[in-house]
Amino acid sequence: MSEKAIPLVDLVSQHLALSDEIGRTLSDVIADGSFTLGSPVKMFEEEFASYCGARHAIGVGSGSDALHLALRALRVGPGDDVITTPNTFIATIEAIIRCGARPVLVDVDEDTYLMDPARLEGAITGRTKAIVPVHLYGQPADMEEICGMAAEHGVKVIEDACQAHGASINGMKVSHFGDAACFSFYPSKNLGALGDGGIVVTDDSEVAERVARLRNHGESGKYNHAEPGFCSRLDSIQAAVLRVKLKYLDRWNTERRRGAELYNALFKDSPVVVPFCKPSNDHVYHLYVIRVENRNLLQERLAGRNIQTGIHYPIPLHLQPSTKEYGYGRGDFPVAERLADQIISLPMFPGLRKPDIERVAYEVIEFSLSGSGVA
Ligand SMILES: Cc1ncc(COP(=O)(O)O)c(C=O)c1O
Repeated sequence: MSEKAIPLVDLVSQHLALSDEIGRTLSDVIADGSFTLGSPVKMFEEEFASYCGARHAIGVGSGSDALHLALRALRVGPGDDVITTPNTFIATIEAIIRCGARPVLVDVDEDTYLMDPARLEGAITGRTKAIVPVHLYGQPADMEEICGMAAEHGVKVIEDACQAHGASINGMKVSHFGDAACFSFYPSKNLGALGDGGIVVTDDSEVAERVARLRNHGESGKYNHAEPGFCSRLDSIQAAVLRVKLKYLDRWNTERRRGAELYNALFKDSPVVVPFCKPSNDHVYHLYVIRVENRNLLQERLAGRNIQTGIHYPIPLHLQPSTKEYGYGRGDFPVAERLADQIISLPMFPGLRKPDIERVAYEVIEFSLSGSGVA
């Protein structure tokens, strides 16, 4: 008999537990009939801004659109360079390209897998308009260093917080540090909708106003279009669901952190490289990513034991066919390239049971001690 499946993420159980509450809220939206930019959107925007400790939040169609519109609101366009890292989801670089700007990449840090501030300084030039650090896997990037350099050079900072709802540095939530921060509500995120959604968080009223305009055809008053915009609104239905789920976010993040601590403890005396979390950071473990040699073999072995895993991400951005025109090649970002071959994301979600974590860890340790998985 095959062993019980352990998924990478379990969205079904999470929503089953909330189905009555979500069902009621959906009925309210249907009865109200304002399906776009309705009152649930306004209320959710206020609640999410307050959760982040920020002045404004503007709901949009996705995390990708949040990045795109935030960059545009900060006047990024053709002729500008925008710096980000090769170790992120493709949407980060696509947002830069969609503005007509040129993406410039800097390698990541060998320990945190996040933008390496030591490499950033040399990449900033007179053309640099903005920096997009990514709080990847749920861990904040080194915002003190990055924002310090940005301020010195008069460059904007847009935080890609799509994987980091609720993460903080010295108690300050991500979104506090940059000119704007962008979150995704893709279903598997720490705070996920029942479909696509995203939000831009900012303290800057002008940026907030401009994102609000851009998401709705550049409209500044009914059928009055101040500038060419886009159709990228957060649906009332999604906002209503997100209002229900936001109440549970801190609890879910605590469960993720406990799961990560258990994995860390189980891997303690093994050759497995566990996530490095800076003591000043509150990591929210959107993903629990370890590093091993022979990663593909481990993934196959775990799949054979009914344990689902992921790779985030197998091809660094500078080696993607879609970014070819920017002239990067193999060898340009050695840390990101090494990581792409060695990282593997283990099952991680709120409600993941202790025996399941123990079973996953046991299988990984067995593999690494067999001599095939030492990084
Ligand atoms: C780091 C990062 N940036 C941007 C995005 C884009 O978000 P969305 O899928 O909501 O467009 C994601 C989502 O997968 C992400 O993980």
